Order: sequence, then structure tokens, then C-alpha cells
Amino acid sequence: MRKLFITGNWKMNKTATEAVQLVSALVKKVEGLSDKIDIAVCPPFTTLDRISTILKGSGVSLGAQNLSDKASGAYTGEISAAMLLDLGVKYVIIGHSERRQYYGETDELISKKAKFALGAGLLPIVCIGETLQEREAGKMSNVITTQFKGSLAGLTAEDMLKTTIAYEPVWAIGTGKTASPDQAQEVHALIRKLLVDTFGKAVADKVIVQYGGSVKADNAKELMAKPDIDGALVGGASLDAEGFSALIKNSIG
Ligand code: PGA
Repeated sequence: MRKLFITGNWKMNKTATEAVQLVSALVKKVEGLSDKIDIAVCPPFTTLDRISTILKGSGVSLGAQNLSDKASGAYTGEISAAMLLDLGVKYVIIGHSERRQYYGETDELISKKAKFALGAGLLPIVCIGETLQEREAGKMSNVITTQFKGSLAGLTAEDMLKTTIAYEPVWAIGTGKTASPDQAQEVHALIRKLLVDTFGKAVADKVIVQYGGSVKADNAKELMAKPDIDGALVGGASLDAEGFSALIKNSIG
């Protein structure tokens, strides 16, 4: 049995002061749940230091939303793996569709970042997902297969065991349109098959595949009930402690 893993992706929201309030409230509401479910939050870089202190010993892990594919040096505006590790960061989201869409991130760069993160000791959450146009053109399987192969290129079986995949249909992100549990399961089953074919069944059985795209407290339970959906990457609904903790509780309940 895979343990459910729910991650909050705060995106470019919350000042450090607001972030401290949110995470302090969240920690109280999810106290004692870490035996049943893995929880992480990925706040903006500017808040990681303060959030890290609050999360110590709480059972909620810290993640970042991106990292550089370089170790250090003259790369203005970039954040390195070593900087994240130093702040107690455990997970890092890589290749979110917003990074692909607005900042031109390619599968090649994403696989480079994933390998870099793993080499440094961070656990990547690699995002893949099709657009509405691609789905309507009947290209979903091709897009998922291409992104899977490209974004995870060069990862060993051992690397894969440390990596989470997030399936996020672009048309469901921030739109209020969730993939139905059956639509999501269909893609998760495809991802599981790609994992079996690439890394073998023993590895595929252990890899966490999260669903992301308008997951909320009231649809989490039926999504999590599907056999190949092992958690969620949550944007909007992770921005308030009440709603996010209800989503987490409903996922296990
Ligand atoms: P959403 O975002 O939950 O607001 O749709 C999900 C994501 O982009 O990770």
C-alpha cells in the first residue's frame, strides 16, 4: 500500500507574515495525522526560512517550488539545491505547467533539474499534464508519454523511488474544472504502465503519483479512492488552513 501524499503549492502567494500565520494554523489542525498521510507545503522562497522553523517536529514537510539546474555561481536570480537544503527543504516541485508555459521550461531542462535535485539529496515532484487543446485533439496519451520519458530521462530505478509524479491536466489548474475521478484514473493508470515499462513493477508499485487541478475538500475523497491516485498537488485550496486541513482529512477519511 502506498501512503497518500498531499502537497500544498502556494505559488506566488503569501508574504512572509501571511505565510507564518497560515502554516502555524495548519500545523495545529493536522497534528497527529502524519502516521496516516504525508503532508508537505511549498511556500515561496522568501518565506522558507521562517516556515522551516515552524515546521520542525510538526510532521509537515517543507518543499520548494523550483530550483536551479546549476550548483552555484553567476546566475542572477537563481536558487540552488544547497540553499534549499540548508533551510530544511525536503521536496522540490519541478516542471510545473506554469513553469513550462510562462518560463519556457522544456522536458530536457526538467530532467536536468530532477537529476540535479536527486544528486543533492532533494526529493523531486515532477509535473506532467496535457492542455485542453491536446486532450480534445486526442493527443493526451502521446503528450503524457512524451513528457514522462523526457522529464524523467536518465533517472535510475533508485532515483525513481525518491521521485513523486504529479499528473496535472493544464485545463483543470485553477479553473475550478477537476478531471472526474475516472478521467484522472485513466491517466494515472497510463503513468503506472509507463513506470512498469521503464523501471519495472517493483518500483512502479511504490511510486507516488499525485493528481493536481482544482482539488478541494469536497472532491478529494473520491479522487483518492481511485487505485492509482496516491495523493494530490493542491494550489488554490492550500491557501487557507481550514480548507486545506479539511481536504487532508477527507483524503484519508
Ligand atoms: P489548483 O492548482 O489546485 O489551484 O488547480 C494546482 C497546481 O497547479 O498545482
